[in-house]
Amino acid sequence: DASDIEKGTYPHYMLKEIDEQPLVIRKIVQEYRAEDGSLHIDDEIVAAMKESDRVYIVAAGTSYHAGLVGKQLIEKMAKIPVEVHIASEFGYNMPLLSEKPLFIFISQSGETADSRAVLVNVKAQGYKALTITNVPGSTLSREADYTLLLHAGPEIAVASTKAYTAQIAVLSILAAVTAKSRGHEIDFDLAKELGIIANAMEVLCDEKDDFEQIARDFLADTRNAFFIGRGIDYYVGLEGSLKLKEISYIQAEGFAGGELKHGTIALIEDGTPIIALATQEIVNLSIRGNVKEVVARGANPCIISMKGLEMNGDTFVLPEVHELLTPLISVVPLQLISYYAALHRGCDVDKPRNLAKSVTVE
Ligand code: G6P
Repeated sequence: DASDIEKGTYPHYMLKEIDEQPLVIRKIVQEYRAEDGSLHIDDEIVAAMKESDRVYIVAAGTSYHAGLVGKQLIEKMAKIPVEVHIASEFGYNMPLLSEKPLFIFISQSGETADSRAVLVNVKAQGYKALTITNVPGSTLSREADYTLLLHAGPEIAVASTKAYTAQIAVLSILAAVTAKSRGHEIDFDLAKELGIIANAMEVLCDEKDDFEQIARDFLADTRNAFFIGRGIDYYVGLEGSLKLKEISYIQAEGFAGGELKHGTIALIEDGTPIIALATQEIVNLSIRGNVKEVVARGANPCIISMKGLEMNGDTFVLPEVHELLTPLISVVPLQLISYYAALHRGCDVDKPRNLAKSVTVE
């Protein structure tokens, strides 16, 4: 059938979509470039960002995890406070809003009912909304005031991969363009850094054997697995744990490194896999301290660090990229490790049990 053609020589859509990520990042840079070569976002969207005193990001699942990274990008570059909310919670538990809120809905499909319920609610209250989506003309795009497209191409696998990195890339461009309009100096060339990201993603996609081996070494027959990180690595760990649980059915959880001692460490047993991310200089020593704590209790540590921050014995060292953009590459090994873990365990990678690609009921 038609879907077989689209999959090409790939055994699964998920693997194909992971591999498409470098292309998608390059495409996004191209789509958001003005004639003079600078990155560009529609003036009315930038004006809406500029006028708001607080941004409320609303999303579900993987898109929520992209939103957490987006908060960091917008706060650090554009210096506007950002709250990130799970759509289904926001609907019934509306927080106190600032005077001039701007809502950003992040949704790959543009059809998620939980997110739409919030959109309808905030529109009824007269607030402005921007939808960041992969699907032009989708419900969330039509009903919002503004839309930014992901240009990621159709995502078929239920477990989202290229949409997540596309969402972060588009959010980074929105953050940088808004920053500029607010007179905040960005001391790096984002288009160039995204090019470096695309190249780094390519390198990672060429190292699939390493990730297959890691999946075998750490996840072949484990009951559970924990992801730890600090700062932005924590957010990527949440996404890594979601990927793993969605498709391999391993009970996986992401934690902030510092929170381990407040509870999760009780779960560490002999051989429990701990996947630790270390891409941030400022927390490099503290996350490694956390790894030592769990290793002392028998954990099997898989440390994914970034070039320049690596230490002896790290499991995998990522190519060096700009420290604000590390989620774009640190998530790739986690996607691939999840893929191979699911494969080895005989799971239906593209169509995991109980899950739907787009959830149109609340
Ligand atoms: C479903 C999918 C997830 C996705 C979530 C949000 O649960 O299985 O992969 O992250 O919906 O979807 P959206 O289209 O709004 O990003």
